[in-house]
Amino acid sequence: MNTQHKDILVLGGTGKTGRRVVERLQARELPVRVGSRAGTPPFDWEDRSTWAPALDGVGAVYLSYYPDIAGPGAVEAVGEFAALAVRSGAPRIVLLSGRGEPEAERAEQAVGDTGAELTVLRATWFMQNFSEDYMLDHVLSGEIRLPGGDVPTPFVDIEDLADVAVAALTDDRHIGRTYELTGPDSLTFADTAAVIAAASGRSVRYVPVSLEQHAAELREHGVPEDVVELLTYLFDEVVDGRNAGTTDDVREALGREPRDFASYAAAAAGAWQPVPAASR
Ligand SMILES: NC(=O)c1ccc[n+]([C@@H]2O[C@H](COP(=O)([O-])OP(=O)(O)OC[C@H]3O[C@@H](n4cnc5c(N)ncnc54)[C@H](OP(=O)(O)O)[C@@H]3O)[C@@H](O)[C@H]2O)c1
Repeated sequence: MNTQHKDILVLGGTGKTGRRVVERLQARELPVRVGSRAGTPPFDWEDRSTWAPALDGVGAVYLSYYPDIAGPGAVEAVGEFAALAVRSGAPRIVLLSGRGEPEAERAEQAVGDTGAELTVLRATWFMQNFSEDYMLDHVLSGEIRLPGGDVPTPFVDIEDLADVAVAALTDDRHIGRTYELTGPDSLTFADTAAVIAAASGRSVRYVPVSLEQHAAELREHGVPEDVVELLTYLFDEVVDGRNAGTTDDVREALGREPRDFASYAAAAAGAWQPVPAASR
């Protein structure tokens, strides 16, 4: 099927990875549609009546699920959405998945079962969680209080992930591939705290806590129960050493090395600066 002149729909197109995918596609002057509840037309995972209009005239999809590919309802939603995409002329799907997560692999299977021309990006934890997501508050408080023990994680820079996504959306050689995306090194949370402290000039340290303590602290901060459960599942299931190894898959997909944590921290340091008194 010729999908060349059709739009590329980027779900989560205003989020951490999707925004970067949109920027890269626009820079290449490719036709892009931003999948967002505020998009034109709007797209909402919670409202299936928005799915078909969002896919009208689309030839390929960057599929990032919200809130989490390993969360409740994800398998059914991404499977149904992918089936609709294939039926409506958008067989090319690049799926953002999670590394070492059995629930995420069920979602991959559901998308694969639709007959989509699929590329799976099975990503380990994002470096940008420390600067654009829930770990930012930990960094700003001076204490990264997580149930991560001293298990190393090969955090991936989502600038690399976005580069791989765009390669996969625009080059048929990536069809049928599953890329396990990691950074070049595995770091403990204590290592990440040290690198962030050096890049930001802040005092930041890692304080290992139990799963129960972490859940209790999230609740104290008013985090909704479904998010508490999801984070508990992720730390319990994913941060147990099984995902500690790095892969060559960024190099395999892009022909260059992945960015390391120190480069990420240098680029992200603005997120960790104190807010000037005048703008508070
Ligand atoms: N964080 C990690 O370390 C990690 C690692 C591996 C995989 N993942 C996977 O990455 C995915 C998330 O990707 P991300 O981090 O790029 O996104 P994100 O920044 O978490 O998500 C925000 C995006 O989701 C959209 N959104 C929110 N509610 C929505 C709804 N009801 N319907 C449609 N869109 C909605 C937002 O758009 P609007 O608000 O504009 O509607 C925004 O574009 C998850 O599936 C997660 O499992 C994450």
